[in-house]
Amino acid sequence: MTRILMVCLGNICRSPLAHGILEAKLPLQHFFVDSAGTASYHLGASPDKRSITIAKTHNLDISHQKARQFKQSDFEIFEIIYAMDQINYEHLYKMASSKEHRKKLKLILKENPNTTTNNVPDPYYGELIDFQEVYDLLNETCTLIPKQLIEINKT
Ligand code: 4NP
Repeated sequence: MTRILMVCLGNICRSPLAHGILEAKLPLQHFFVDSAGTASYHLGASPDKRSITIAKTHNLDISHQKARQFKQSDFEIFEIIYAMDQINYEHLYKMASSKEHRKKLKLILKENPNTTTNNVPDPYYGELIDFQEVYDLLNETCTLIPKQLIEINKT
């Protein structure tokens, strides 16, 4: 079993989408996907309505997810931790207490050679179209991730 964690700031806009998108692309007998936020603003909250709406238009139900804050023990539980942007990556990097933990940290957009940015844009203060852009970016990136993960899982 390979465990993958998606991390943004609030765990209500970007990482719930990344969580739902990647989960739908992986065989769940071998993979577990979850998400968390580096901040505690929205603990226990459902994903933002706009993330739920955009996911639904792509036949993805993320409405059951609940926001939680990233915790130190996540470094032990998860094999791969994808940060949605550089700021959250740096926050996690500072929390990491060993080389092994730091090795688990990745910027999700580094997996996508078609992007010129390292940051999934924060859509919280934006419009529905901004959530659609986040979906498109994450969907393209999460299409590229499973092949390499399935290879890792074999070794
Ligand atoms: P997320 O977006 O990190 O993609 O979940 C945000 C959600 C909430 C806030 C900021 C960003 N906030 O300031 O409450």
